[in-house]
Amino acid sequence: MILPIYAFGHPILRKETEEIEDDYPELKKLLDDMFETMYHSKGMGLAAPQIGRNIRIFVVDTLQLDADDRDETASEFIKEVFINPIVIEESGDKWEYEEGCLSIPDVRGNVIRPPQIRIEYYNSDFKLIDKVFDGITARVIQHEYDHLEGILFVDLLKPLKKRFLKKRLDKIQKGITDASYRLIFK
Ligand code: NI
Repeated sequence: MILPIYAFGHPILRKETEEIEDDYPELKKLLDDMFETMYHSKGMGLAAPQIGRNIRIFVVDTLQLDADDRDETASEFIKEVFINPIVIEESGDKWEYEEGCLSIPDVRGNVIRPPQIRIEYYNSDFKLIDKVFDGITARVIQHEYDHLEGILFVDLLKPLKKRFLKKRLDKIQKGITDASYRLIFK
């Protein structure tokens, strides 16, 4: 089922998130819906607050960047579910990459982050994983992890760029966008 996405300005995106137990009701259905919603809106990642749930889950699919148009590099491209994740370490020389977010349609901006991330999480079978990711895969994980902390990529932009985007962000808050998918506004 395709779910509506909560847009920039909605308080759920800033709310604290909670860990879930392995008996969380209809978890499999929720994860399926999150992937379906992400594909429908052409995203590479989606976090639970974006579909209105303040729980610590996000999904990522960087496999979509298939070999032909893979400008971006990573040691590994993944389709994965991250439940109750904890970032253990970020490392390497920081790099800049233009990010976007399904909750902030038509807004993009360069964000500087470390290229490697070590993260501990439960997968969809509730198996504990401790793994290092890099490149574009790390980037998407970092962006989605931030959602669980109530952080949006626009918070991380340079002041000048933030000022430049202010009007557009104000419009989104007021529900003015031409996104091709359904959004929920404050
Ligand atoms: Ni996002």
